[in-house]
Amino acid sequence: MFYRLARPALFTLNPERAHGLAIAALRAMPRRPAPPGGPLETTVAGLTFPNPLGMAAGFDKDGEVPDALLGQGFGFVEVGSITPRPQAGNPKPRLFRLAEDRAVINRMGFNNGGAPAAAARLAARARQGIVGINIGANKDSADRIADYAQMTQVMAPLADYLAVNISSPNTPGLRALQDEGALGALLDAVLEARGGAGPPVFLKVAPDLEPADIDAIARIALDRKLGALIVSNTTIARPPLRSRHKEEAGGLSGAPLKDLALQRLRDFRTATGGALPLVGVGGISTAEDAWQRIRAGASLVQLYSAMVYEGPGIARRIVSGIEHRLRRDGFATLAEAVGSE
Ligand SMILES: Cc1cc2nc3c(=O)[nH]c(=O)nc-3n(C[C@H](O)[C@H](O)[C@H](O)COP(=O)(O)O)c2cc1C
Repeated sequence: MFYRLARPALFTLNPERAHGLAIAALRAMPRRPAPPGGPLETTVAGLTFPNPLGMAAGFDKDGEVPDALLGQGFGFVEVGSITPRPQAGNPKPRLFRLAEDRAVINRMGFNNGGAPAAAARLAARARQGIVGINIGANKDSADRIADYAQMTQVMAPLADYLAVNISSPNTPGLRALQDEGALGALLDAVLEARGGAGPPVFLKVAPDLEPADIDAIARIALDRKLGALIVSNTTIARPPLRSRHKEEAGGLSGAPLKDLALQRLRDFRTATGGALPLVGVGGISTAEDAWQRIRAGASLVQLYSAMVYEGPGIARRIVSGIEHRLRRDGFATLAEAVGSE
C-alpha cells in the first residue's frame, strides 16, 4: 500500500537514485528472517530454506541489506555480484525502467565496492537466514579464472552458497566462460579454492544459449557436483517492446524475459534429468509465475525487476500465494511439486 503511494514519486527520479533510496529505506527495516518449520520449508543443496523465494543478485550488490530483505519475507537473498577489486561500472545512465513493458534494461557493468569492503560488512552480520554470495571478475582482470578463485577463497567462509556469475552481458567476454573448455577449468579452480568443507557452489547462466551449450553446461555441472544452476540472467535478446528505452544496450529483465527464462528452465530440467537442483529466475512477478516455474522444475525461484514495480510487499504476497497453491493442488511438500508439470 505504502509503495503504491510512493511509486509515482519514486518513478520521477532516475532509476539509480530511486534504487539508492530503496537501499536506504531498507536499512531502517526489521531484520528478522522467516521462522523455520513453515509449510514451504525446503532443503536444496544441503541448505534448509524457510521458503523458496529469493532476492536475485544485483539488488544488493555490496551486501548492505541482506537481513532487511530477509525481514521482508524472502526465504533467501543473493548479494553481489562482487569482484576482487572495487569497480565503478559503466558510465551513467546505465539503468532504464521500461514501465510500459514492466521491464528493466541495465548495463551496470559490475559496479561494486570490491571484495574487502563487502567481506568486512558480511563478516559483521549475525549469521541467520540464508545469504548467498554472487561472485564476478573485474573487467580489466588479466586472469578472470584467478579472480573467481580468489573470490571463492575470500567469500566461502561468509556464504551459505556461492553463485558463480559468468552470464552478465555487461562485462565484455565474460559469457565466453560458459563455453565447454573454459567452464570446466573455471569450476575446477573454484572448487579447489573452496576446499572440501566449503559452501555449495551454484552456477548462474544466461538465457541466450544454444541447445549444444545447454547440454555441455548441464554435463559439466553434474560432473562437478554443483549445488544448483541458476536459470537465468538477463537477456541480450529484444522481444517486442513498447517503451522509449527499448533500444538501450544491456541486459533485459522483467516481464518480457518470462517466457524465455521459463523455456531455458525446462531445457535445463531436460538436460539434467532432474538430477541437479534448478533456481528459476526471470520475469517472475506473481505467485502464479513462481508456481509455474516450480512445476517446471525449479526448486527455488528468485526475482528482481518485479520488486521495482511492486515494492517489497511482493515477497509476502508471492510466498502466501505459493502456499495456497501447494495446498490447493494437494502437495504435502514443496519438493513434491518441483517438476510435476
Ligand atoms: C539492475 C540490475 C542489476 C543486476 N545485477 C546483477 C549482478 O550483479 N549479478 C547477477 O548475477 N545478476 C544481476 N542481475 C540479474 C538478476 O539477478 C536476474 O537474473 C534478472 O534480472 C532476471 O530476473 P528478473 O526478471 O526478476 O529481474 C541484475 C539485474 C538488474 C535488473
